[in-house]
Amino acid sequence: MKRPKFQTPLGMHDILPREQKYFEKIYNITKNIADFYNFGKISTPILEQAEIFEKGTGESTDIVQKEMYTLRTKGGDLLALRPEGTPGVVRAYIEHGMASLPQPVKLWYFGPFFRHERPQAGRYREFNSFGYEILGEQNPIIDTQIIQISYNILKELKFKNLIVEINSIGDSQCRPYYKKLLVSYLKRKESLLCQNCKKRLKQNPLRILDCKNEACQKIAQGAPQMVDHLCDECKYHFKEVLESLDETEIPYSLNPYLVRGLDYYTKTVFEIYEDTPEGRKIGALAGGGRYDNLVKLLRGRDTFCCGASGGVERIIDILKIRKTADSYKTISNKVFLAQLGTMAKRRTLKLMDEFKKQGVPIAETLGKNSLKAQLRIADRLGVDYTLILGQKEAIEEVIILREMKTGKQTTIKLNKIVKELKKRLKK
Ligand code: HAM
Repeated sequence: MKRPKFQTPLGMHDILPREQKYFEKIYNITKNIADFYNFGKISTPILEQAEIFEKGTGESTDIVQKEMYTLRTKGGDLLALRPEGTPGVVRAYIEHGMASLPQPVKLWYFGPFFRHERPQAGRYREFNSFGYEILGEQNPIIDTQIIQISYNILKELKFKNLIVEINSIGDSQCRPYYKKLLVSYLKRKESLLCQNCKKRLKQNPLRILDCKNEACQKIAQGAPQMVDHLCDECKYHFKEVLESLDETEIPYSLNPYLVRGLDYYTKTVFEIYEDTPEGRKIGALAGGGRYDNLVKLLRGRDTFCCGASGGVERIIDILKIRKTADSYKTISNKVFLAQLGTMAKRRTLKLMDEFKKQGVPIAETLGKNSLKAQLRIADRLGVDYTLILGQKEAIEEVIILREMKTGKQTTIKLNKIVKELKKRLKK
């Protein structure tokens, strides 16, 4: 087939009708969990001032340096297509004075995000993500609850073999000292680092720990570990998180190389993977952590925060491999309504309304005239019943009910048909 001239931009994709069921399923699960845990939904603009990501996500991160789509407006503002949700939520928390509400403030979101990454397994340039943020709470139990929420969503989607990887990356008390130790170790190995990590050594040395390059990974294995250099407060916090995680029986493993690619984290960071070769290839299904400095960084008051986001496309990619989602229900029509002639078509509009009010899903092809063509479609849909409304029936206020399995036909009064079908479908 000749390739069409106009296609979706690289790394972006259409979500076709047959794929919507995956998104709906994930949306419904994330919404139910949000309702259960009392998160209020927030929708922030897809475009934000680029500066909130430069300041929030971090100037030296890959997301800001390489992946952020920016544009200059006619008025001269520098805006960015949001690469992630957290800074926008924090901006909204400050802008709408949510610090004066009873704390914590719990917010959740679901929508598209944009990162100009090299398209590969699990990496899209436009992807959908859901997230939960708890602002204004210091207690380490919140970190565990955020992990539990993220884990439970994946569990509800029937993921098996999930593993939570967790680490603490300290705070402004202990991290600077650890950074010094790390840099002095890495400097001795500088010539062996990949080109990217040579640059990171100056700007963002912690990220060298989770570089995917084999040589860098070997070097990371000998590096000093943050968990051995936490200050007392961070040590206590991490211990509490791990102990409460033990209570939940969520499987987790300590990963001292987990630092995450966003600058705002303090203390707890985590990612959830499907622990299979395909799962590892696709990458983290969800990730998050504590970000106690971000509100202040965006010119709000000091506020303790913790949150996480999950990647919808990555989840769907795995569901598709597993064929788990094939069983997700879409509304399946059990009844097809065929009509012949203008009068019958007009009557159909009203009849459809009555079916809708009574919650009986019904299929039709109003544009088609031939009965044969309509019955062929009914057959293809695999419906149990076909209703036939011709000119004569419309005048006499009746309709023909055909049982598709047996071919048996009954004539029923139009004003009784909805009730009759409801009764039959219940059986
Ligand atoms: P993140 O790990 O950068 O965290 O992204 C969250 C999730 O989005 C990832 O775990 C992954 O499933 C998905 N994801 C990321 N990049 C892509 C991509 N290019 N294509 C497809 N899926 C992708 C955050 O964004 C933080 N805001 C999470 C957070 C919330 N931390 C605290 N609160």
